[in-house]
Amino acid sequence: MKMIQDLSDHPLVQHYLTILRDQRTQASEFRRCSRGITEVIMVEAARLLALESMEVTTPLEVTQGARLSPGVVFVPILRAGLGMLEPAMSIIPGSSVGYIGLERDEVTAEASCYYAKMPDLSASTQVFVLDPMLATGGSAAQCVAQIKAHGAKRVCMVCVIAAPEGLAAFQKEHPDVPVIAGKIDRQLNERKYILPGLGDFGDRLFNT
Ligand code: PRP
Ligand code: URA
Repeated sequence: MKMIQDLSDHPLVQHYLTILRDQRTQASEFRRCSRGITEVIMVEAARLLALESMEVTTPLEVTQGARLSPGVVFVPILRAGLGMLEPAMSIIPGSSVGYIGLERDEVTAEASCYYAKMPDLSASTQVFVLDPMLATGGSAAQCVAQIKAHGAKRVCMVCVIAAPEGLAAFQKEHPDVPVIAGKIDRQLNERKYILPGLGDFGDRLFNT
């Protein structure tokens, strides 16, 4: 798997992302499209999942099959990552969930942690961090550092939009962590918002 993936050649990603970007899109439609785009991105991220082989008996004979290995954990970064949690869980059954609350300072854009609750993590756990916007990469990097400190070694960042500057900073800190994004956008503005982006994901999702 490539360490950075941009899925914007997918027609469904382009469709949902265009509606998410549109400033006229209201919260209910924004939520529907967050769900749609997350499902597409998660199907791709699911290529990282480990399988256990098993036999299955069809109505005609016994054949070789496979089932997902247990130990998949989603960690949405609050708040905006919550918009990705339900669709992600619907794609990968039997998962557990941890939470990290991170908020960017409006002036410095530095993220600080206000909440964390993790399930048991081990070297074999596959963790998917859910955060729709990877801007400076600070929130993602802090979250992954906490997850690694809990013992996880297999971590993947799942985003809707990422900025090139943030991706570079994130990769420098976590070169072992793949990032799967719906789209890698052009750049950050002076307030560290992504351009063209979609504005503040959390505000648009929660109508605040
Ligand atoms: C947003 C977004 C990411 C973070 C990305 O959260 O959801 O978590 O910014 O920015 P970074 O890459 O520069 O760290 P925000 O702090 O606005 O909180 P919210 O989700 O509660 O709105
Ligand atoms: N967080 C957002 O919600 N949007 C951005 O453009 C940057 C950070």
